[in-house]
Amino acid sequence: MDARIVLLPGDGIGPEIIDQAELVLNAVAEKGGHALSFERCPIGGNAIDDFGDPLPEQTVEACRNSQAILLGAVGGPKWDDPTAKTRPEAGLLKIRRELKLFANLRPVKTFDCLMDSSPLKRSVLEGTDILFFRELTGGIYFGDSGRSTTETGEESAYSTMIYSTSEVERIVRLAAAAAMQRGKKLTSVDKANVLEVSRLWRQVAERVVKEEFPELEYEVVLVDAMAMHLISRPSTFDVVVTGNMFGDILTDEASMLPGSLGMLPSASLGESGPGLYEPIHGSAPDIAGKGIANPLATILAAAMMLRHSLGLEDEAADIERAVDAVLDAGHRTADLAGKGETSIGTVEMGQRVVEALQKA
Ligand code: NAD
Ligand code: IPM
Ligand code: MN
Repeated sequence: MDARIVLLPGDGIGPEIIDQAELVLNAVAEKGGHALSFERCPIGGNAIDDFGDPLPEQTVEACRNSQAILLGAVGGPKWDDPTAKTRPEAGLLKIRRELKLFANLRPVKTFDCLMDSSPLKRSVLEGTDILFFRELTGGIYFGDSGRSTTETGEESAYSTMIYSTSEVERIVRLAAAAAMQRGKKLTSVDKANVLEVSRLWRQVAERVVKEEFPELEYEVVLVDAMAMHLISRPSTFDVVVTGNMFGDILTDEASMLPGSLGMLPSASLGESGPGLYEPIHGSAPDIAGKGIANPLATILAAAMMLRHSLGLEDEAADIERAVDAVLDAGHRTADLAGKGETSIGTVEMGQRVVEALQKA
């Protein structure tokens, strides 16, 4: 198979982890006789520095003309000035919106050999396998926002959380359909005891499930309680669907189930067109340039890309098995290594995965 893939390394550890994912994809291509071509484009803080724009038009065009996009991360302290005209994160939000990538899939699985890397007990973690569907192009991220100053000179700011019926329907439908293929259980997370927008979300979600997916076991959980249930009973969840901001927060929390933010991949999908694949973590400015970032979330995102955008299920599973094998063999980047355990760097971890793929 031939495919054009756009790589968006971004800022901080982004380029370090994208390099390793590219090597892994090249190994997959070589093994299976696939012609994957890669084009690197600017996004984020470096794009602001070089082009005055966190998402230059050339990047959008290249993404539109690709089969799939793999992104590292954007942002960093250099671009954190609250009065700046634009921010690196605006580039990421814009590409998600431009490509209509409304469904953000964030799988969270525990790895048997990593149970000791998690702050939680093995007995709590065992059997955890959750697929989050985070709505990605609506909610408070994209509602009306602004600032104003009163006559007395006091400044105020607002960000509006807004969802339409059709936005809720399409993400719930996708999540419910995925649940039908898995454990047949769906959990919808909202804040309907307080927010009107959540009351609409709850009404619409319940209608879609009752009318179209009557066989599903369906549960509704308030987001504050969900933050607790995720660490007290993670293995009881199957598919979880929620809005943009709640999904963002809950999945960073959920990364402590496998034990590191550096382990969670994601896929952002629309009705059609290229998908965008990325780790859920950020540019990790505290470790950028040190060569110690965990590249596995990005490598696992590359596997999701092969599965969802290129139809290469076997190759995706090969990458996932290679990651399992490397972890089973005891290799750990610093984020996963226990006290006193030796760790390996970003490049070495990538190399181990490539070797495991070549051996398999
Ligand atoms: P972060 O996810 O970058 O880092 C949080 C913590 O996790 C840090 O201690 C970091 O070292 C660690 N970490 C993250 N990824 C890791 C990896 N692969 N290996 C080892 N350790 C890892 O979150 P933050 O520090 O709150 O944000 C930093 C910047 O990243 C901000 O500008 C933020 O806006 C941006 N950000 C971007 C994305 C994205 O591009 N998708 C996602 C989240 C945050
Ligand atoms: C993520 C990030 C982004 C988000 C930011 C950087 C815009 O936290 O991908 O999870 O909040 O969606
Ligand atoms: Mn996030």
